[in-house]
Amino acid sequence: MCGIVGATSERRISSILLEGLKRLEYRGYDSAGIAVIDANGQLDSLRRVGKVQALVDAQASAGTNGTIGIAHTRWATHGGVTECNAHPHMSGSELAVVHNGIIENHEHLREFLKAEGYQFDSQTDTEVIAHLIHHERKTCGSLLEAVKAAVRQLHGAYGMVAMDTREPETLVVARSGSPLVIGMGLGENFVASDQLALLPVTHRFMYLEEGDVAEITRTQIRIYDQQDNLVEREQHESDVTYDAGGKGQYRHFMLKEIHEQPIAIRNVLEGRLTTDSIASDTFGQGAEDILKDIEHVQIVACGTSYHAAMVARYWLESQANVSCNVEIASEFRYRKSFVHPNSLLVTISQSGETADTLAALRLSKELGYRASLTICNVGSSSMVRESDMAFLTRAGAEIGVASTKAFTTQLTGLLMLVLAIGKHRGMSADKQAEIVAAMKSLPAKIEEALALEEAIETLASDFANKDHSLFLGRGDQYPIAMEGALKLKEISYIHAEAYAAGELKHGPLALIDEDMPVIVVAPNNELLEKLKSNIEEVRARGGIMYVFADKNAHFGSDDSLHVLDVAHCDPLIAPIIYTVPLQLLSYYVAIIKGTDVDQPRNLAKSVTVE
Ligand code: G6P
Repeated sequence: MCGIVGATSERRISSILLEGLKRLEYRGYDSAGIAVIDANGQLDSLRRVGKVQALVDAQASAGTNGTIGIAHTRWATHGGVTECNAHPHMSGSELAVVHNGIIENHEHLREFLKAEGYQFDSQTDTEVIAHLIHHERKTCGSLLEAVKAAVRQLHGAYGMVAMDTREPETLVVARSGSPLVIGMGLGENFVASDQLALLPVTHRFMYLEEGDVAEITRTQIRIYDQQDNLVEREQHESDVTYDAGGKGQYRHFMLKEIHEQPIAIRNVLEGRLTTDSIASDTFGQGAEDILKDIEHVQIVACGTSYHAAMVARYWLESQANVSCNVEIASEFRYRKSFVHPNSLLVTISQSGETADTLAALRLSKELGYRASLTICNVGSSSMVRESDMAFLTRAGAEIGVASTKAFTTQLTGLLMLVLAIGKHRGMSADKQAEIVAAMKSLPAKIEEALALEEAIETLASDFANKDHSLFLGRGDQYPIAMEGALKLKEISYIHAEAYAAGELKHGPLALIDEDMPVIVVAPNNELLEKLKSNIEEVRARGGIMYVFADKNAHFGSDDSLHVLDVAHCDPLIAPIIYTVPLQLLSYYVAIIKGTDVDQPRNLAKSVTVE
């Protein structure tokens, strides 16, 4: 989603800002822009619709440069994808602003500012912020005070950076609802919405907290909290590495990330399992004391992370003997829900910044949950910082918008939660040892699933001219069918629906014909015979099926049934293993369709607005 980069330095910073934007491209965006204060003390700005490269080319020919500046990638919310709506937004010839988030009272403020004589060039809510700060600057002595006065009038979410030619060494930043990180250099300072943008220039960071406003110059950072107290925020040294050209031998980040899954899962397991159980500090110090009391689990998440939550519900109830509800965060946060006694609120999120999931976490604190746990890939994220307990999935930076390794590492983490809760709820030592052994087999089993790549690439051509598809699974494979359908629609734009196979005859059978490929996930578990009956129902109606089946399930291929043998695995880990061929299928279908695999249209990696 929208990305922010800002810099104040002694050196010229256009290339730093543009490199920062490139590193945020993976988050999804539709236009980009940059503004600097040039050597003559004038605001110089450029905006382009489309890729950051278009902005880079424009900057190279225009020569836009300076020692202080701000830049932005925009993902349209208010107003279409046009150059006028791209950020930075200006007020007068002095002030420029970039903003992530949504200002809910923008209409009211727009009317007020129009009455004050301001003219609007865009349909965005951000332009309102620029004019409001400009208006406040008339009576406030500094940009800092003007921003403080302006944010007091804003309702909604923002992470923003403002710059004014009257204070040509100062950036003023404000955070409420959209993350911002300050990067500290030597004689230069930076700001961004994601530390990844700043890794080429610094590894020292400070995370702003909700309500913070900060004044940043080359040599000084002053942070004021919500109550306007001058505060210190803890400094962190980041050990994250991110190689911008890091696709290695792979054509896309998504394919690289699919292949990284064995190593990513090894990283999740590292040091967290004993020979036959889970290590006691896996969910943090003091977590045991909480987890032993838990009688119910409520999981909240969005997108792919929601599918991980759905699998976890099957696991927690069947293995850990604890009741579990799962809900999409945007639904959970706006309804009155029942809180069971001794409930654990679990958020699952790759980014730890998804607006709805973060809001659900914050809401849970008022609802009487026993504690909160986040399962997350980003250690510095808001969710990790605001949860009582955190489990880091250690997947490494995931750049492809369509989530792959983040999902399978979340599932691995959730199996650990099954162990951590189950051992307090009567799970036998043998059962614990069995789960541990199954988890330890994961990297090798994923390698075996990856070996299907060539066969899947061949099969993908059958899908290239299809407009619709149906994914079927039963039990804990139903969410995997949902995840397979999500992957296919995200990156190939083929309409894909997932059904629990038992529901076939309650509607979707009406859709079956030779133009509607049906993808089935069929591990060798207790539901296999039921699933085979569902397959016959499709076959009897002339459907063409692609079945990912356990070698031992003894399916035979024929004209209407294409079987891909998946190596046998413990049924408990089958949801993780069967995800892999579905990821590869969507990838190779997208390749044939020629879509933008890593940055599919209209989508964002991290959805920081609701
Ligand atoms: C976006 C991404 C999805 C992701 C979802 C939830 O829609 O495109 O890949 O699953 O957000 O994100 P989170 O970071 O909370 O897991």
